Amino acid sequence: MASLTVRQIDEALKQQLRLRAAHHGRSVEDEIRNILRDAASDTETPPAPAPGRHANEPAPVRRVLLIIGGGIAAYKSLDLIRRLKERGIAVRCILTKAAEEFITPLSAGAITGERVFSDLFDPTHEFDVGHIRLAREADLIVVAPATADLMAKMANGLANDLATAVLLAAKAKIVLAPAMNPAMWSHKATQRNLAQLAADGVTFIGPNSGEMAESGERGLGRMAEPLEIAAGVERIFKAAGAPQPLQGKRVLITAGPTHEPIDPVRYIANRSSGKQGYAIAQAAAAAGADVTLISGPVNLPKPDGVKVVSVETARDMLEAVERALPADVAIFAAAVADWRVANVGAQKIKKKAGSATPELSLTENPDILSTIAHRPSGRPSLVIGFAAETENVEANAKAKLARKGCDWILANDVSPDTGIMGGDNNTITLVTISGAEPWPPQSKEDAATMLIARISAALKGDKS
Ligand code: CTP
Repeated sequence: MASLTVRQIDEALKQQLRLRAAHHGRSVEDEIRNILRDAASDTETPPAPAPGRHANEPAPVRRVLLIIGGGIAAYKSLDLIRRLKERGIAVRCILTKAAEEFITPLSAGAITGERVFSDLFDPTHEFDVGHIRLAREADLIVVAPATADLMAKMANGLANDLATAVLLAAKAKIVLAPAMNPAMWSHKATQRNLAQLAADGVTFIGPNSGEMAESGERGLGRMAEPLEIAAGVERIFKAAGAPQPLQGKRVLITAGPTHEPIDPVRYIANRSSGKQGYAIAQAAAAAGADVTLISGPVNLPKPDGVKVVSVETARDMLEAVERALPADVAIFAAAVADWRVANVGAQKIKKKAGSATPELSLTENPDILSTIAHRPSGRPSLVIGFAAETENVEANAKAKLARKGCDWILANDVSPDTGIMGGDNNTITLVTISGAEPWPPQSKEDAATMLIARISAALKGDKS
């Protein structure tokens, strides 16, 4: 039999496999085994296991298939993808033909990070997934916006395009977020369809009452807001008892910059936005962890279900981290100032005509990551640091891993031209004792989801 190793696969395919493996919370090797097993046993293979179906499989990330219908509210569905992904939910997308009049497959694909589906028969695509597989590989199907037309087709069992064929083939629970003009919503035909769909076990979120896209129109028919839909999806997953991979685990995260005072009005700071640490906190909470986020001064909303402790200086941060222990996992994403001013002025330093410019004398701050990683007792079982580098990223990260005594380092190139510091995207290399694994460039939310999937797998026994 021919032999093939992961090393022989080209880089682009390897990156796709890594992303896919992370989405399912599996190793790349297990992901490949699963793909081969599916392919070998034809299209009638049992579906990939959804959470809770096989206790001996690592818990996969919860998967939503989002069907976007053709309505003006389709633009809100792009935000809905983001909101679901923030919660660690993997999202696949189908666009109806009418939806493509409002948004493009390219924009939906850029946010999901996956191919977007729209044709029932796609002779041009070499990996045609097919409507049966799309239906089976979802733990939940969300239709948003659900137009009057889509609801009518569903109520009558029509299947003349990819979206309706998937809906008819689906065994997963279906959630509709209707959006239409109030006259269409209140029409007897729509209300008949609504009653039929509810009797068929479909769940509804919204519609809400308010201003319509058509000027001067108000009433019941606005699509529920993305945050409302995402919260509804979360509730449905919880009620279904979907196992949460970090349930019962305590996760401690530092994020943001620290501010080191010079005098009562001035301070030394850095360009960290806190976005990556906040995204990790949100993804960890969505995975069921009990999360404490120790945050330097940032301009970000508090993530749902996370305990936030706000601090200013590196010394405050260390104290708050020690107070938040014990933890199973500690992730140090903060850009802690390495130095502080030795003699902080009690009063504002004044300019004095003719006198010399004041000189700041600096002293080193405690290294929080190193202090926690070297704790003789009460060390979290997984200690993860970041390495912000501007050159020799991997080599510096490896040296940092050894020096700081942590288990993993997420290394990133923060040279100004990468736009990582303060930006929305991140390109990470995961450095562990056993090697370096480059992750694809991705949003900070996706990087957070990937990290949480890796942590969940590691806590099940495989630290590297
Ligand atoms: N870190 C920390 N406390 C410090 C400095 C850094 O906890 N006083 C943590 C950061 O949160 C990060 C890791 O250490 O997880 C590496 O931070 P980085 O700024 O890349 O490294 P430094 O230790 O500051 O080393 P250098 O500036 O020399 O690269």
